[in-house]
Formats: sequence, structure tokens, C-alpha cells
Amino acid sequence: MNSKFYVTTPIYYVNDKPHIGHLYTTTMADILARYHRLFKEDVFFLTGTDEHAAKVVEAAKERGLTPLQWADQNAAAFAETFQKFFITNNDFVRTTQERHQKKVQDYVAKLMQTGDVFSGEYEGWYDAGQEEYVTDNKAKDYDYKSPINGKPLLRKKERNYFFRLSKYAPKLLELLEKRNEFDVQPEARRNETINRIKEGLNDVPISRSGTGGWGIPIPGDPDQNVYVWIDALFNYLSIVDTPQRRHYWPADVHLIAKDILWFHAVIWPAMLLALEEPLPRVVYSHSFWTSEGQKMSKSLGNFIDLDKIEDYAWRFGVDALRWFLATNGPFETMDSDFSENKFIGVYNSDLANDYGNLLNRISGLIGKYFNGEVPEYDTASPFGQVIKETISEMVERIPKKINNLELQEALVEMMRKVGLLNSQLEFQAPWQQMKQDPKLAATTLYVVAEGLRLCTVLLQPVMPEKTKIVLEVLGAAGTGTKWGELKSGTKLKTHGPLFPRFEMEKQ
Ligand code: MSP
Repeated sequence: MNSKFYVTTPIYYVNDKPHIGHLYTTTMADILARYHRLFKEDVFFLTGTDEHAAKVVEAAKERGLTPLQWADQNAAAFAETFQKFFITNNDFVRTTQERHQKKVQDYVAKLMQTGDVFSGEYEGWYDAGQEEYVTDNKAKDYDYKSPINGKPLLRKKERNYFFRLSKYAPKLLELLEKRNEFDVQPEARRNETINRIKEGLNDVPISRSGTGGWGIPIPGDPDQNVYVWIDALFNYLSIVDTPQRRHYWPADVHLIAKDILWFHAVIWPAMLLALEEPLPRVVYSHSFWTSEGQKMSKSLGNFIDLDKIEDYAWRFGVDALRWFLATNGPFETMDSDFSENKFIGVYNSDLANDYGNLLNRISGLIGKYFNGEVPEYDTASPFGQVIKETISEMVERIPKKINNLELQEALVEMMRKVGLLNSQLEFQAPWQQMKQDPKLAATTLYVVAEGLRLCTVLLQPVMPEKTKIVLEVLGAAGTGTKWGELKSGTKLKTHGPLFPRFEMEKQ
């Protein structure tokens, strides 16, 4: 094995079923994990559910269930959904699991010993829906209402345990300037984090009382539970804090969205510094999906919930949905809009017209002119050499792009190469070449087929199901990223249309 790669997603609240936002982050993490496996790294990919929120107690009560019964149902919905969408997580953490709870208590006990966690009193404006205190200034800006659900903020006073966050501000700033041990990306999010730290950091409460027994008790003080956010952040470490998995720490990428940047870019690394643990190499914070031009909301009726996601998967296939999410999503600092028209446009142009069509044409032409057998290739052919070079350059560039988290650029480049192969096929016109020089036609078809194979090998992490079919058709299952692995004489297999063109009228 080469180096290791540890990637995580946020762990999702179990008070609701998964929606497009959850599936998006998890799919992007899955694609990263699959690329690193393709590059022969020792990968650990973790996702899961965050279960100790107070909302869970309320939601369970409304349904006449215990909090754990309600959490069980929704955690199962997340796990099942991820399976349906070909997510290859190595483990699924639930914060109610004993393995996690025990470790959280160990971490808190250690911080109490070092004095980084201490007992005190806190008074402030509390957003009950989000389970977080907002600063006095922010509360005023929000007109003392939750910016998320509009409900009044509560003035709350509690005895709490606090984490000495203020102590770690200089070290965090230094690390964020250096960027070689710990980094926040994209750049705009890093700047945001630096500015926020420069405004000054207060010590933060890390416990709650009155949670009705739902949560992880503070060691030695069972009236207090570990604040759900602190409990949740620890999952990234607790699940690999075993003799078999310790080598995966620190995480290479914590993939999150901008809504939870503060906790991941400030609180979490500071807690790790206090625990004397190495820091995650990158916290990558993407933006948000909107839907049909507006913020997703249940009341607007534009919410892309599980039923809608499954409907897309049923009509277009899971791979098509993964492709759309990966190439058109809000991976950078801009939000992206999910609309049916855009989806169909991308499906038809990238998948039906470019990728699916290239396979059709290659297998059709080899079928017609070479009895369905991959023809011989003249390595001296200038056309062959040019294609070999551009494709090989791409093959070399992709791992670098993936390592730099330039995921969208990498995928766009692959599809552009598929487009190039299509246009070169048109330009070379092997059906004409057949008449004058069948050897030339053979080379054209071999080279384009080999280009298609290599693009397909590299597209596997995004579209695991369809690429498997393409490789089987080419008799190239299990082949790697070296030019020339496609064997002349291989009999191509028959196949149906890979991505049938979607006509609007068919709806
Ligand atoms: N439980 C916390 C996270 C704890 S991590 C230690 C939480 N859960 S959540 O269920 O609300 O999930 C938030 C995450 O879901 C976002 O950070 C993002 O990954 C994903 N998304 C939720 N809505 C989204 C969009 N509209 N668009 C893209 N991703 C979004 O916060």
C-alpha cells in the first residue's frame, strides 16, 4: 500500500430524512475516496449520523417513540440511501454508539485534567432550533429571532463547562497562515476563518443541562451532558481511535458545507490542539444547492427530498445523478441551482451525446468493419501518437487535480476528452478511410477505442455502474491507466444504449 487517505462527511442530524444536500456532500466524499482507492492508497471513508440533538427528543415524543427508536429509523434511512447511491463508506458512525460515547468521555476527561475544560456560568441568546448561542451583536442584528426558523431567541443562563478556546487563537492563526499542517479551503473560506479569529475568540460552553438524559454525560457530573456539537465533532477521531485504525489519523479531508465552517475551522482544530492531536490537513467547505432558483424550502415546495432524488435516479439512473451532482454542484464558493431543465440538459449533452454516443459509434464501426474485433494499431501513425499524447497527459494530470481537490475541473477535462474523441472520429471518418486504406481505419478505431477506455477507467469513481458496462463491452474489465492495455483481437460485447437521450415530450 502507498499512502493513506482519510475522508469524512459531516454526520447528519437524524431528525429528518436525507435530502439532496446530504447526498451531495456524501457523493463528493465517495468520489474522492474512490479516486484514492483507484490510485492504490489505503483509504478510510467515514460518514454517519449525529443523534444527540434536543430536536430528536421532541420529534420522537410527537410520534410516541423513544429518542433512540426515532434515531434508529432515520439513521437507517441515511445508511440505506447511501447504499442505493453506491456510496462506499468504510464505516457508519452513530453518536449513540458506545464505542463513540466512551471515547468522547475520555477526551473530555483529559481536557478537564489539563484545565482546558473548566466549570463556569454562561448567559446569552440561545437559538433552540440550531442548538447554539449567538453573540449579543448577532442577536441584535437578527432582531432576536432565529435566522433559520424565525422563532424568538431565548435568553438563557446556565452553569456549564467551558473550553478555553481563547488560548488557541494565536496558534490557529499561525497554522492558517502557514497552511502546511492545517488548511481551510477554498481560499474565501480560509479568509473568512482568519478574519473571524482576528475579531477575537471567547471561551465556549461545551456542556448542556436539562437534556432529559439524551446525550453523553460529562465525566463526574451526570447533570451535564456534552454539548451536541462537541459530541459530534469528536466522531472524526473516536472512530479511528483504535489500534487497527489509528494510522488513518489525522483526517486528510473533512468535507463540509459553509453552514458549519465555524465548528470545523475553529472549534475542532482548537480542541485537537488541546488534546495534542495532529490536525486535519484540509477542512473543505463547499456551498449550497438552491432549487429551481430559490433557497430550498419545504413551504416553497421546491425541496429536493428523498422521494425526488429517488425519482431522478429511477428515470435517469444513479450514475447520471452522481455525474450531475459532481459536475454542476456548489463545490466552490458559489451556490448552484438544481433544476430539472439543467439536469436534462447536462444529461443529454454529456452523457447521451458525448459519452454514450462515443461507445455506440465505436462498437458500431468496429462491428461493421472489423467483425466486432478490436483492430490492429499502427504505432507509427501520427494521428495515433497525437491522441496517445493528449490522453496520456490527461491521465497524468488527473491524480494531481484530485489531490488538490480540483474535482470539478478534473471531471470537466475528462468529458472534454470524450468530446475530442468524438470529433476526431468524425474528422478521420474511418468509413471513408476503409475504402482507401483499411489499415488507417483500423488505427483510427483502435486509438479512439483506447482513448474511450482510458477516459472510462478514470470516470469509474463518478459512474461506477455505467463505466463497468463500458469496460465489459471493450473486454477491458480490470485494466489500468497505461496506454495500450486494450488488446487487439478482443471481441466486443453487445450492449444497449448507455444513456438513452431524454426527450422532453417523454415525461
Ligand atoms: N449534525 C451537524 C454536523 C455535525 S458534523 C461534526 C449538521 N447536520 S446536517 O444534517 O444539518 O447537515 C449539514 C450538512 O449537510 C452541510 O454541511 C452539507 O454538508 C449538507 N447540506 C445540507 N444542506 C445543503 C444544501 N442545500 N446544499 C449542499 N449541502 C448541504 O449540520
